[in-house]
Amino acid sequence: MRIELETKLTDAVIARLSHDADPRFRRIMQSLIRHVHDFVREVELTEDEWFEAIKFLTATGQKCDDKRQEFILLSDVLGVSMLVDAVNHRRYGGTTETTVLGPFFVHGAKEIDNGDDMAAGWKGESTYVFGRVLSVEGKPLAGALLDLWQSNSEGSYDVQLADTGGRQLRAKLRTDAEGRFRFRTILPTSYPVPTDGPVGLILNRMGRHPMRPAHLHFMVSAPGYEPVVTHLFVKGDPYLDSDVVFGVKDSLIVDFKRNDSEAEAEKLGLRAPFYSAGYDFVLRRADKEKQHAARAASDAV
Ligand code: BEZ
Ligand code: FE
Repeated sequence: MRIELETKLTDAVIARLSHDADPRFRRIMQSLIRHVHDFVREVELTEDEWFEAIKFLTATGQKCDDKRQEFILLSDVLGVSMLVDAVNHRRYGGTTETTVLGPFFVHGAKEIDNGDDMAAGWKGESTYVFGRVLSVEGKPLAGALLDLWQSNSEGSYDVQLADTGGRQLRAKLRTDAEGRFRFRTILPTSYPVPTDGPVGLILNRMGRHPMRPAHLHFMVSAPGYEPVVTHLFVKGDPYLDSDVVFGVKDSLIVDFKRNDSEAEAEKLGLRAPFYSAGYDFVLRRADKEKQHAARAASDAV
């Protein structure tokens, strides 16, 4: 009898969903209700535990402001962001693999020229990054846009620091006529995600470390092509196998090779020793429906 009531409750909640509701919304809500109810039944959630969960979610919301998004972080550390990424960006014809956007992307980075230093004034190990943006068919994409961002050598993003004087360690860069790009920066380092909020507490309770392996962030786009949001990870980093947000894919691990040649460093406007890494990004054509939606969205802004 008890079991019957418990099951009927799920059906009763679902039955209240209006048939006039948007079909996709109905499908999402039906599934969500079923899974949450199943979860409560499966673990026989106590009232104290449910109240704890509500307090945790409340604290997560309260930690959010224009610089901090604790819900994205929660989604990241629970692997939900990577799962959403996986079902939306299945690999196709050798396209570059995607990974989490993360909470530190900011619009409005300054545009730099090929060869410029996006970390001017920041201490760290000199690094040179170069490559091409190509279509799946191997055609170089001239004028493709790369949005780049990274942490400083202590693992902090500009938005986490007071007084950095505007956008820092971020840049926009366009490929040249042969689809090539190159820029100077500092070697990224592994760093912890923010742990001074509810997500830090839950990581600690799960017995997990908060570290991300060293990486550079890229958002690569070209008109008519599907944009790619991804990272390049530094080969050899100790956290590649245990990234707190599950973002590492083998194809995104790159050798940042150490180079001790003064002459080569000078040619690139660097000082030896420096590190260099090359990578080609491969984009696929956007399907027409998505292109229309993207155009409509940009028209509406
Ligand atoms: C990041 O790489 O910037 C990041 C991604 C997910 C959570 C926290 C940080
Ligand atoms: Fe990052």
